[in-house]
Amino acid sequence: MLVALFSTLSLVTIIHAQLCEPDAKNAFKVRLSLKTALGDKAYVWDENEEYLFKAMMAFSLRTFSNRETIEISNILLCNVTKRVSFWFVVTDPSTNQTLPADEVQRAIRMNRNRINHAFFLNDQTLEFLEIPATLGPPTEPSTPVWIITFGVVFCLVIIGIVLLVMSGIRQRRRKSKESRETGDVEDKNETMVTIENGIPCDTLDFKEGCVNRALVADDEKLTPL
Ligand SMILES: *[C@@H]1O[C@H](CO)[C@@H](O)[C@H](O)[C@H]1NC(C)=O
Ligand SMILES: *[C@@H]1O[C@H](CO)[C@@H](O)[C@H](O)[C@H]1NC(C)=O
Repeated sequence: MLVALFSTLSLVTIIHAQLCEPDAKNAFKVRLSLKTALGDKAYVWDENEEYLFKAMMAFSLRTFSNRETIEISNILLCNVTKRVSFWFVVTDPSTNQTLPADEVQRAIRMNRNRINHAFFLNDQTLEFLEIPATLGPPTEPSTPVWIITFGVVFCLVIIGIVLLVMSGIRQRRRKSKESRETGDVEDKNETMVTIENGIPCDTLDFKEGCVNRALVADDEKLTPL
């Protein structure tokens, strides 16, 4: 049973050998930098990792283009090197031909984040050489958050600058007003005494009717007069 399975698998591999080769039609080169990404914690790229890679590719095509007939055996890897690079193609189970490169490419780009996470890698350490490392949909929401944060900070800075400038202008105005008013203080106090709330004071009782509590200080100044 196992032997039969093994021989059919190897037969399939032999049949598909021509489909997967460097620079073949619809073939993609993948390069992994495990040491760069993980340092001492780098794992060894072995057959189990290859199996996971095939599974991720099959998953991407199944979810992206509803190709639910695609199995792990439809993902063919070849020319795997020790510094970890390899080529792969995806075959169409109904025709035994490779799937169009642009379909595979779009499926991978859609699932780029999940593929990266499955291997603890990122766009720089898990490279699909023919596929530009553009951000997939799951990472897009993070960009607007940055833009919003930047916008808020920018607005606060602008508001701060405007407030500073305005308070500066106001202070300067107040100062110049004060310097102009110091000369008129006595005149002003006199008019305040004579006309309080629009009523001429001399017609009323001076102390009861006219003394405003707010002006007590001024009043004290005036008493000697
Ligand atoms: C890829 O592998 C095949 C068979 O294993 C070999 O004949 C071929 O030379 C290799 N190509 C490259 C570019 O290494
Ligand atoms: C595809 O390949 C498999 C196994 O090699 C074979 O059984 C099947 O008939 C092939 N299908 C087509 C459509 O060629």
